[in-house]
Amino acid sequence: MRRPESFYIETYGCQMNFSDSELVEGLLCEGGMRQANSLDDAELVLVNTCGIREHAEQRVFGRLGTLKVIKDSADFMLLGVIGCMAQRIGTKILEQAPWVDLVAGPDSYRLLPEMLEELAGGNAVQLAQLELDGKETYEDIRPRRADPISAWVPVTRGCDNYCSYCIVPYVRGRERSVDALKVEQWVRRELEGGAREIVLLGQNVNSYCDGETDFAALLRRLDKLQGLEWLRFVTSHPRDLSDRIIAVMAECSTVCEHLHLPVQAGSDQVLKQMNRGYTRAYYIERVEALRKAVPGISLTTDILVGFPGESEQDFRQTVSLMEEVGFDYAYTFRYSPRPGTKSDGWEDTVSDLEKGSRLEEVIALQLEHTRRTLNAMEGKVVDAIPVKEAKSGQGKLQARTRSHFNIFFSADKSTVGELLKVKITGNTGMNLLGERQG
Ligand code: 5AD
Ligand code: SF4
Repeated sequence: MRRPESFYIETYGCQMNFSDSELVEGLLCEGGMRQANSLDDAELVLVNTCGIREHAEQRVFGRLGTLKVIKDSADFMLLGVIGCMAQRIGTKILEQAPWVDLVAGPDSYRLLPEMLEELAGGNAVQLAQLELDGKETYEDIRPRRADPISAWVPVTRGCDNYCSYCIVPYVRGRERSVDALKVEQWVRRELEGGAREIVLLGQNVNSYCDGETDFAALLRRLDKLQGLEWLRFVTSHPRDLSDRIIAVMAECSTVCEHLHLPVQAGSDQVLKQMNRGYTRAYYIERVEALRKAVPGISLTTDILVGFPGESEQDFRQTVSLMEEVGFDYAYTFRYSPRPGTKSDGWEDTVSDLEKGSRLEEVIALQLEHTRRTLNAMEGKVVDAIPVKEAKSGQGKLQARTRSHFNIFFSADKSTVGELLKVKITGNTGMNLLGERQG
């Protein structure tokens, strides 16, 4: 066997995982490999996987079946599985899909070039040490950025929260923060490379601390950088949303008026069982403080229904919290037990049917709330940065607003990456429609 010369990465899961793929792409390119435009054109195909729900993992096993067929018909193709699922069940993947050539978890990507060498040397299957080293941040690796306008900068990796349902601490290890100076250098490099928007990433990004600089101080420091138009961050934990962070969000002009603040549930009993570290009243108080400091801020959340022990009354509390807060958007999930997590052994008291109907209810409610938000924006003039031509064509561009909605309007494609003023003329229920001003 020889060493593959080109690669292609297929990514599942959250932004952190997509950002990791950009890092692995950078790492492999530094090693002299070529990034292929499509899977058919690649000698190494990596699947970057998510393990957050069982469904995500089942999808990957399905996909690996399809990739086997592609591999069998290719002249030369190696197949690797990386990411959270690789970390969780790497050995099982190799047993169930023996056509997979290598497996590596989120802290082991530096080993990939070595593993490819080993494979070329005839050593059959490769399993990177699936031990999380707990320190890796890849801060010296230059990611291959896919989006010309927006750059992800992972400032923390891992998570120490141990929400009782969540696999992340087990597959991504302890939380660690990149040194603020290194973050600044990284951001400067992205801005020099043409990025207008920086998105700081972390599983619990607002608990960032490098020993000296906390998250509020980091935002303040980055806000001053030349060329930075918009600064965002995701995902924030309500418990770590300090008054200082809220004050900095209000004070710094680059920090966008949007916050993704997962609440998960509206009942104190369920929040306690989830080990979220806050109560419903605390969450609502944080939202009030945010809205006072940053008027009109757009708020998005995650809702998890059907957690063990969630009674009908508990669920009603989630619905009433959604009514009370009026989120602009919510990602909604049904509980899926994850082996190794604290809640895995707990009796699944909510039937599948009931979980399904609770999920449907929160989805419908959120659709209503999102439409209400979008309708209320009609007639306003907002800042927007076009990111690309709209898929529908017709001379339309797809742009982002500071509140993190997509907006579609007619403009020349040479304006991609420019800050424009756009008047909101309507919506599709999910996205905004507008007209360029001036
Ligand atoms: N089952 C269902 N949803 C989950 N999430 C995390 N763990 C699970 C699980 N075991 C959801 C949470 C989290 C989002 C990223 O995924 O809502 O915020
Ligand atoms: Fe992201 Fe969590 Fe999925 Fe890993 S398991 S890709 S951290 S959502």
